Amino acid sequence: MRTDDAPLIRLEDYRPSDWLIDTVDLDISLHPHQTQVRALLGLRPNPAGQPGAPLVLDGDDLTLGRVQLDGAALDDAAYSATSQALTVHAPPQRGFTLTIETTLDPAVNTKLMGLYRSSKVYCTQCEADGFRRITYFLDRPDVMSVYTVRLEAAKAEAPVLLSNGNLVAAGEVAGSDRHFAVWHDPHPKPAYLFALVGGALDKVREDYVTADGHKVELAVYVEPGKAGRAGWAMDSLRRCMRWDEAVFGRNYDLDVFNVVAVSDFNMGAMENKGLNIFNDKYVLADPQTATDGDYASIEAIIAHEYFHNWTGNRITCRDWFQLCLKEGLTVFRDQEFSSDERSRSVKRIADVRTLRTTQFSEDAGPLAHPVRPRAYKEINNFYTPTVYEKGAEVIRMLKTLIGEDAFRAGMDLYFERCDGTAATIEEFLACFAESSGKDLGHFARWYEQAGTPTIVATGRYDAAARSYTLDLAQTTPPTPGQPEKQPVVLPVSLGLVGKAGDIPLKTGSNAYAGDGLIVLDQPSVSVTFTDVMEPPIPSLLRGFSAPVRLELDLADADLLRLFSADSDSFNRWQALQSVATRALVSAGRKGADQRALSATAGALAGALDDFLREQALADPAFAAQVLRLPALADIAREIGGDVDPSAIHAAHRSLAATIGTPLVPVLLELREALGTGGHYKPDATSAGRRALRNEMLGLIAIADPARGTQLAESQFAESDNLTDRLAALAAMTLIPGAAREQLIERFAKTYADEPLVLDKWLMAQALIAEAGTLERVKSLMQHPAFSLGNPNRVRSLIGGFAANLTQFNRPDGAGYGFVADIVIALDRSNPQVASRLLGSFKSWRMLEPGRKALAEQALAMVARTPNLSRDVSDIAERALA
Ligand code: PHE
Ligand code: ZN
Repeated sequence: MRTDDAPLIRLEDYRPSDWLIDTVDLDISLHPHQTQVRALLGLRPNPAGQPGAPLVLDGDDLTLGRVQLDGAALDDAAYSATSQALTVHAPPQRGFTLTIETTLDPAVNTKLMGLYRSSKVYCTQCEADGFRRITYFLDRPDVMSVYTVRLEAAKAEAPVLLSNGNLVAAGEVAGSDRHFAVWHDPHPKPAYLFALVGGALDKVREDYVTADGHKVELAVYVEPGKAGRAGWAMDSLRRCMRWDEAVFGRNYDLDVFNVVAVSDFNMGAMENKGLNIFNDKYVLADPQTATDGDYASIEAIIAHEYFHNWTGNRITCRDWFQLCLKEGLTVFRDQEFSSDERSRSVKRIADVRTLRTTQFSEDAGPLAHPVRPRAYKEINNFYTPTVYEKGAEVIRMLKTLIGEDAFRAGMDLYFERCDGTAATIEEFLACFAESSGKDLGHFARWYEQAGTPTIVATGRYDAAARSYTLDLAQTTPPTPGQPEKQPVVLPVSLGLVGKAGDIPLKTGSNAYAGDGLIVLDQPSVSVTFTDVMEPPIPSLLRGFSAPVRLELDLADADLLRLFSADSDSFNRWQALQSVATRALVSAGRKGADQRALSATAGALAGALDDFLREQALADPAFAAQVLRLPALADIAREIGGDVDPSAIHAAHRSLAATIGTPLVPVLLELREALGTGGHYKPDATSAGRRALRNEMLGLIAIADPARGTQLAESQFAESDNLTDRLAALAAMTLIPGAAREQLIERFAKTYADEPLVLDKWLMAQALIAEAGTLERVKSLMQHPAFSLGNPNRVRSLIGGFAANLTQFNRPDGAGYGFVADIVIALDRSNPQVASRLLGSFKSWRMLEPGRKALAEQALAMVARTPNLSRDVSDIAERALA
């Protein structure tokens, strides 16, 4: 179906279901090609629905067998069935049961939605609407049911049989080679949280007792032979469970908590009740096959999925427009967990980097949408940085605005009041309005309005009056379907930095909320601070208190002062980024004069030299962030139009080289001082030291390629961990030549049997900013390590290429054509992965005219391809609209 024909689903059209399903009894007999499903649904009319309405169950690609009502066969005339729907025309207006038999072929399910096989393991993915690929159902999150699931399979093929809830029975099937297990989940849940797993898997287990005294068995299941790589996931699980008890008062609620790693998975992981299923990339870790970044992601994603047990599962979403109710909130919770486990300021910096390159870019282009979209054609296209990351920023602002105590009280109220329900953003916000006594009506606009606001700030010091006046004004640019914008509520954390540090803030302005917080909820506000004895430097948006662009015209010298003197570490980092960004934006414009960079580069190098000598060893993780320049995509977005990616890249390289050259001696000295850290440990402190060493290696590789080559080669040879080896490879990808090609070969040989490590190898090559990369990527598609059928491989090689600013945006358009062709090919087997890849075109409108026309042609070629999935055609149409 083309999207022009696909219905637009609107929030305002929401109606409760006419029918409810209280109980679901599933009997599933697993077989690679002929899985039999018998579903016994306990139905009743919904008192809130239309009396007398027919029963219309959703289906997708289903083969129907028998249908019975209250145990008796249904007349042919009483119902009609297509592969998409099963309609009972005149169902009894009382409770009744419906038995539905379907047959599935999991082995040919390449969409990885519903029941499929991933390297011989049976598994399911039901969010958002995959359950209807298993049986006909009311596949909507406000229909919540108690599930009992009997699974049966050949013992040899699937010795492990798992579903949601607690195991209630298991045994052999007499006279056969099959066995069974029965699982019961007492917590009513929507169908999207259903899951099953069957296969030969190794298990790592641990006992856990919740704060309220409930004994739980924790288990992580992995491919046979990989149990040695499950320890970090288990460790993370235990820690995040304790954290949720301590910080949010949330206890776990079943006898078992299972995590299963599979190698074919469309997303990161899935929070199915009591049975989280993971992309194995976010479970498996040991020092030889996972980087520090992997360890951190595993910890964060294990926590994210676990936290969904309360924010997502116990309280779910009324409809898919409320997706941010569970996702934004759960991202906020996992960010807070990681901040407490690691360095809060470094975590914040890393999160803001991601927010800017992913969400700000989305918000600035044709795919922009509000945190709560109002309409969609394909819900799977709304699992976006806006719903997740901006959704988390909105929660963070809420907490800043109402304060820590009212935030916690509001969360408690939410858990108490909405437990067991399918809730809305309105119900969520009502809890915080009540706990804080504040009207959150205006704040709610964050959920409705797309686009990244800009704050324009100007400051004036009045020496005679000893006052400092700050003028703040906000605007939000137009986005698709929203030409006019209203002001939003912006918490602006700030300080005024004087010679001896922060100046005490005194003002009579009612925009000032105290504690260094201005609330900008009007188009503009002017706040005058008194008793300011010296001209201060404003430090605005401390901790990145709101997801906005800030325009504040400070001299480089003032920014460099903030870098050395601000009490807020986030703004120390930001100050240096701001200096670099400003220089890159002016030197990166099409046809700009690159020589203008050298003055800034000199100032930056000077500041960094002092910083590296005096402070880097005290907080290496922070220092690593300081050394890293802003991302190319951020510069492109700041330039905003007529973007020439080659010019941006050239400016970026030239700035790095000019900063790096005078720093080489101190970089070498500091690398020496840091040492290799001895035996690998994944903790944040050790990881921070490696991050700094490797960030410096990258800078040396650019500033002094011969030295860089030598260091990278010896680091690769001597190191015992993947973090340092991959960093060596990444540094070498910056230096064309035979040494690079040799290291690439050596890396491939070393990790020939490690698909997840080779993914990084594929990506490192896909990111090389050279004209030969497209050919390299094409030939890597023939490498045995690559497969179009595996989402991780596709994301690494093709997704990596599409994220390569200069090569995806080649001036001849070949990058666009290549990605577009793959999108079209992939759409036939896996529409979700194809449409995510097509999302790489999200910034095409800001390009210079030549590239822009070529990108548009490629998008148009996708759009006019016959028989596209709804996923891909929706993105193509919105990108072109
Ligand atoms: N709900 C999952 C998560 O955030 C993401 C997901 C969505 C996974 C859709 C699979 C399919 O945690
Ligand atoms: Zn989530």
